[in-house]
Amino acid sequence: MDTAVTFTTKQWQELDAAHFLHPFTDHKSLHAQGSRIITRAKGVYLWDSEDRKILDGMAGLWCAAVGHGRQELVDAAARQMSELSFYNAFFKTATPPAIALAHRLAELTGQRFKHAFFACSGSEAVDSIIRTMRHYWNIKGQPSRQVIIGRTYGYHGSTIAGSAAGGMSDMHKQAGQAPGFSHIMAPYWYGLGGSETPEEFGLRAAKALEDRILELGAENVAGFLAEPLQGAGGVIIPPATYWPEIQRICRKYDILLAADEVICGFGRTGRWFGSDTFQIEADLMSVAKGLTSGYIPLSAMLVGSRVANALIDEGGEYNHGFTYSGHPVACAVALANLDLIERDGLVDKAAIQGEKLRAALRARLADHPLVGEIRGVGLVGAIELTADKKTRAFFPEDAGVGLRCRNHCFRNDFIMRAVRDTMVFAPPFIIDDEQVEEFVARAAHAIDLTYAEVQDAGLL
Ligand SMILES: Cc1ncc(COP(=O)(O)O)c(C=O)c1O
Repeated sequence: MDTAVTFTTKQWQELDAAHFLHPFTDHKSLHAQGSRIITRAKGVYLWDSEDRKILDGMAGLWCAAVGHGRQELVDAAARQMSELSFYNAFFKTATPPAIALAHRLAELTGQRFKHAFFACSGSEAVDSIIRTMRHYWNIKGQPSRQVIIGRTYGYHGSTIAGSAAGGMSDMHKQAGQAPGFSHIMAPYWYGLGGSETPEEFGLRAAKALEDRILELGAENVAGFLAEPLQGAGGVIIPPATYWPEIQRICRKYDILLAADEVICGFGRTGRWFGSDTFQIEADLMSVAKGLTSGYIPLSAMLVGSRVANALIDEGGEYNHGFTYSGHPVACAVALANLDLIERDGLVDKAAIQGEKLRAALRARLADHPLVGEIRGVGLVGAIELTADKKTRAFFPEDAGVGLRCRNHCFRNDFIMRAVRDTMVFAPPFIIDDEQVEEFVARAAHAIDLTYAEVQDAGLL
């Protein structure tokens, strides 16, 4: 039965409201409104159950690097499913796709990360990093080193450990905060930099790490976990002074550095990894989303030699793993996805199209009274909506200006996501020049509508 055709939108919405609990959703308001039912996708477009064509400015959810509906990935999954649909890697066994992917990831990272541990989601990769960091210090005879330092507005997933490491206060409030985590300020110059230059502010934001290490005592700190740029927190791109100073501080106090590359990995920032773009030399890395372009769930913790040597040579039994760690079908899809990214030069394309997109957005929107800043790197970026261009003032939180803009996008068949009053975007790398223009026109239209609404509401 082709359910997408058989059921009406209304029927889907009723069933959805009756049974499906969505992630990160106010269910009451969703039920009042009804979900939009997405039924198919191709390239940079999605279609809904009313057959409306939607420009996907978020690549699914920062995932679909190669675009939607690539037959090569479908074929890779089908081939692997008919050959070997599943076997685990627990009991001294392995499957060719998992081995080949671990080898490929070592090559792609220039042998910096020679070992990969596979999981299904970004959250699980982050969880794996947290327990591996703590395990490392146990092996090294320094078991007091347990605290993981993260950042405000950091997002590391929604498991108990991932949300505790992240800096989303609403998540902490809802489920309680686990012990063993500490948070420092985000390197968010636009929002927190006041009259400092970005460079001055970058150094101050990095110094917060040193201050916190000293406060906690370095002998209690396992490591620092951070996204190269903070994606879900509002595409917060650190000033150029930030990462070199963070790196220096981690080395000085001998704490582990973990780069959460779940969004940045595999070309999003215009280089293969955010760590290449920001020149980060991490001990551990989490990757997910772009690894399979979201076609199938797969993530990995990539482990550098410092930790891998301890784990392998001195660690004994590694008491960690998931049924689907190294799932052969997911790994086969990842290999095909990486082939496509390489074959079609999509990492360079992300850099080039990202430049074009930012230039076009600035040409159209830089002088817009509602726009405070347009920033980005590669094909990830943000548009700040502001109550005052000069002072970079925010609207009152309860005015929901970002959400208003997101709704205008959505109603007009365009997807940007709102984080506070920051509109964020991350389209597929295959976006062409014409689609860049369409993106800009749709974003400008939504922002114009939001501006009119904000004026009507007396917020300006
Ligand atoms: C940086 C980062 N880490 C971890 C995660 C969690 O990934 P998942 O939703 O696959 O668990 C995300 C999700 O957006 C993310 O952006």
